Amino acid sequence: MASGAELTGRRVVLVVTGGIAAYKSAELTRLLVKQGAEVQVVMTEGAKAFITPLTFQALSGKPVRDSLLDPAAEMGMGHIELARWGEVILVAPATADVIAKVSAGLADDLFSTIALARRCPLVLAPAMNQAMWSNPVTQANVSRLQKLDSQIHIWGPDDGDQACGDIGPGRMLEPQVICDQMVAFLAEDKPLHGKRVVITAGPTRERIDPVRFISNDSSGKMGYALAQAFVNCGAEVVLVSGPVNINTPAGVELHGVESAAEMLESATQAVAEGCDIFVATAAVADYRPASAAEQKVKKSADAMTIELVKNPDILSEVAALEHPPFCVGFAAETQKVVEYAQQKLSRKKLKMVIANDVSRSDIGFNSDHNAVTIVTHDKVEPVPKLNKQDLAEDLVKHIIADYEKTL
Ligand code: PMT
Repeated sequence: MASGAELTGRRVVLVVTGGIAAYKSAELTRLLVKQGAEVQVVMTEGAKAFITPLTFQALSGKPVRDSLLDPAAEMGMGHIELARWGEVILVAPATADVIAKVSAGLADDLFSTIALARRCPLVLAPAMNQAMWSNPVTQANVSRLQKLDSQIHIWGPDDGDQACGDIGPGRMLEPQVICDQMVAFLAEDKPLHGKRVVITAGPTRERIDPVRFISNDSSGKMGYALAQAFVNCGAEVVLVSGPVNINTPAGVELHGVESAAEMLESATQAVAEGCDIFVATAAVADYRPASAAEQKVKKSADAMTIELVKNPDILSEVAALEHPPFCVGFAAETQKVVEYAQQKLSRKKLKMVIANDVSRSDIGFNSDHNAVTIVTHDKVEPVPKLNKQDLAEDLVKHIIADYEKTL
């Protein structure tokens, strides 16, 4: 079952036609919207005999479109724009009549016009009496459509009890099944479909005693925004995060850790399980106390000294693997930002460093915004100040473009 928000920003035209299964399309709308999809419902006249447009308007948050000759709609999003707007047109239920109409190329109402004008895939979820489904005319229409157009997909029908009392093939697939298939279907055309991304984020805490630690101001916002952006591009994302106070983006596998040592163990384990792209946004403490006291350290002398030892460098260790993933580091600098980033790029054997000037209080640590410079072996490209989610979307495009060159 789809875990949530996997259709964020995807545009689905859901066509509801006149069959008893039309009532199930209300639940289908709810499930698609819950997954983050923008759903534009189109109803045929027949569909309105089974369920009201108001139900779909309430569930989709958009007025239902039901008329080809609607002057108000044609001034805004007309039927041709509607056909272009959808990334997929899903007809559920698809009656025998609708399948015949599409097969014949008729265009006498809103749905059939959209079906003919579309450039995107058309998914038909048949729903009809078993005898109608088995009828050679319906079967011929279905195979004609599949032969004519590789963008036409037939999902179902299911076999079982029918509203008319018959038993056999013809039931519309359950809404959850259609929704899950839609998630998988739309994921296939995403650039990182089938790729696994591991991201480190947030600060680490290095214990002095049970109630005190060394840490820094990282909020995790940059890393979590990147995790969301990678999920939006279809990647499977593992987020290895230090202690932060933000919600985990839907669809992300979170591994919560505290110290640099724990982050190293969790990140290297996640990479060993398969990783195409590794992005280190974490502000890992460079040093930790040589030993952490088991009990709270009591106040006594006027001064105290804590011996610090160097932490392992997680990013360098991943980049030094025999078969490393595409490694992207961040560089938090207060001066000579690009120069130091270039040094990190070479020293840590990375493909890209994203440098931010953390001397500025309006960006970087614990801010909702960031401004960065992308540094690779052949370019230095500034990206102006943006909110971290927009910036993450932009950075992921750069990462994908460079990653694809290595394939
Ligand atoms: O979390 P936010 O509040 O949103 O803030 C975002 C950020 C400022 C923390 C982020 O944009 C950022 O710059 N992260 C890197 C911080 C850092 O530790 O930079 P660095 O220059 O010290 O380290 C270079 C790279 O090596 C980083 O990718 C870092 O994750 C990695 N590193 C560093 C030390 C270490 N022991 N292990 C590492 O993996």
